[in-house]
Order: sequence, then structure tokens, then C-alpha cells
Amino acid sequence: MPDSQNGKTAILAMCGKGGVGKTSLSATIVKILSSNPNNKVLAIDADPAVGLSTALGIEVSKTVDDIRNELIKRVGDGKATDKAEMLSMLDYEMFSALEEHKNIAFLAIGRPEKEGCYCQVNHILKDLIASMADNFDYVVIDGEAGIEQVNRRVMEKVTHLILVSDASRKGLNVVQTIKDVSDDAIDYEKAGLILNRLRNAEEREKLSIPPELNCLGWIPEDDTIRSFDIEGKSILEIDDSPAMAAVKNCLREIGL
Ligand SMILES: Nc1ncnc2c1ncn2[C@@H]1O[C@H](COP(=O)(O)OP(=O)(O)OP(=O)(O)O)[C@@H](O)[C@H]1O
Ligand SMILES: [Mg+2]
Repeated sequence: MPDSQNGKTAILAMCGKGGVGKTSLSATIVKILSSNPNNKVLAIDADPAVGLSTALGIEVSKTVDDIRNELIKRVGDGKATDKAEMLSMLDYEMFSALEEHKNIAFLAIGRPEKEGCYCQVNHILKDLIASMADNFDYVVIDGEAGIEQVNRRVMEKVTHLILVSDASRKGLNVVQTIKDVSDDAIDYEKAGLILNRLRNAEEREKLSIPPELNCLGWIPEDDTIRSFDIEGKSILEIDDSPAMAAVKNCLREIGL
């Protein structure tokens, strides 16, 4: 894998309509990037339904949300008031919430925060995740539909915005909206679209994709992904498949 980031962490955020394949493609990207043992990869599951952990076969013992709630409770009970004490507790808890498997680390965010509450805790968490990311070559964030959480909850800095859509008009409209919102809200370096679950090249030809969406390529409907999902098997166990080859090409297109 070329060091296209010149030693800087590449932070990929996967966005798109519900059910288009964000989680499957996130897991596939984690597999591809981690296949070079020199790469350290952090996978962040920002979906409350924790789908990425299942796709990667990783057991979640604690989420960032659990840590946040514990701290809020401690503050409520009068057990932690000092900022330095809070910071050291959070720092320790965050590293203990990281699940590590060889050169892959995994962090689950859990439920979305309640609007407007516990600002200080949320800021500290965001800073901790950002500083944690510095220890990795690649961070892959699998999100819920929409960009807002990446912006607000997880981290400010996404370097690669990966839009995911199927061939449907609805899916493409959603990525267009996400792209428009992101252009105003976040300071990414590159953005590109992956079309997922297409039947063949003919289907791709029929789609007219606006150039500003920067289509990186298309992923075929792949029985390996389907059957691994049905059996609950980890995508990390797939060594090669048509989808994996196509995802590799898309990553190359965006310089990763
Ligand atoms: N290229 C593919 N070939 C075959 N099946 C696929 C492919 N990509 C995704 N799928 C299947 O499509 C379904 C939805 O995929 P996935 O869960 O990755 O979507 P998602 O965008 O993360 O959904 P959600 O918005 O609910 O989180 C899953 O059953 C998955 O196995
Ligand atoms: Mg998902």
C-alpha cells in the first residue's frame, strides 16, 4: 500500500443511504488496508446498531457511549469533579475500550449523544478519539446514513469522504445531499463515490453520475459477501472475491 498520506493518518468516512453496503464495504476496506502488516488500522463503528463489529467478527465489550454514561454518573454522584481526574479516567477507559486484533483496532461509539447535554464530556471524548487516531495509519469510520455524526460526534477531521450508493435514484440523491452538506461542514481532502451491488458493466453505463461525485468504480453483487453475512462470518476471512478486487481498484482511484 503506498504511503500516499506522507505519514499522516488517512481518515475514511463511509456515508450513504441505509442498506447500500456501507458496513460491508467498510469491513472490506479494513481487510484490504490491514493485509499489509505494516499498516495500523483503526476501525470505528459509529452506527448504534454496531454492524461493523459483526462484519469484522469482533466482540464489543464497551462502547464510547458506555464510558460517557459512567462518567456522567460519577459526576452526578459527586465522585469526579476535577477536570484532570475526568480526563485521566476517560483516557484510561478509552484505551481499554479498544479491541485489538493484530494490526487492527476497533472502537464502537454506541448510541448517539443527547443533544446539548454534557458538552464537556463530549468534547473530551472527541479530542481523545482524534488523538487516538494519530497512532494509526488508517482510520475507517462506518456510519449511520448521513454525515452529521462524523462532523459532530466522532471527529472533526475526515480526510477521505467515501460516498456509497446502489444504482437507485434514491441512493444517488442521498449521496448528493451528503456531498453538498459535507462541502460546507467538513474540511475533507478527497471525496469519491462507490457504486455497490451493480449487476454488470451495462448497468453502470446506464447510470449518469454527476462528475462532482467523482465515481471511483463499481462493486458487483457478490455472493461471498451475501453468504458471509447470512452465516455471520467475518469479512476478514475473505481472501479474495470479485467485490474485494473492485474495492481495491476504488481505493487506488482515490490514492490509497
Ligand atoms: N456487493 C455486495 N454483494 C452482495 N451483497 C451485498 C453487497 N454489499 C452489501 N451486501 C448486502 O447488503 C446488505 C446491506 O449491507 P450493509 O449492512 O453493508 O449496508 P449498510 O449501508 O451498512 O446498512 P445500514 O444503513 O443498515 O447500516 C447486507 O445483507 C449485505 O450482506
Ligand atoms: Mg451499516
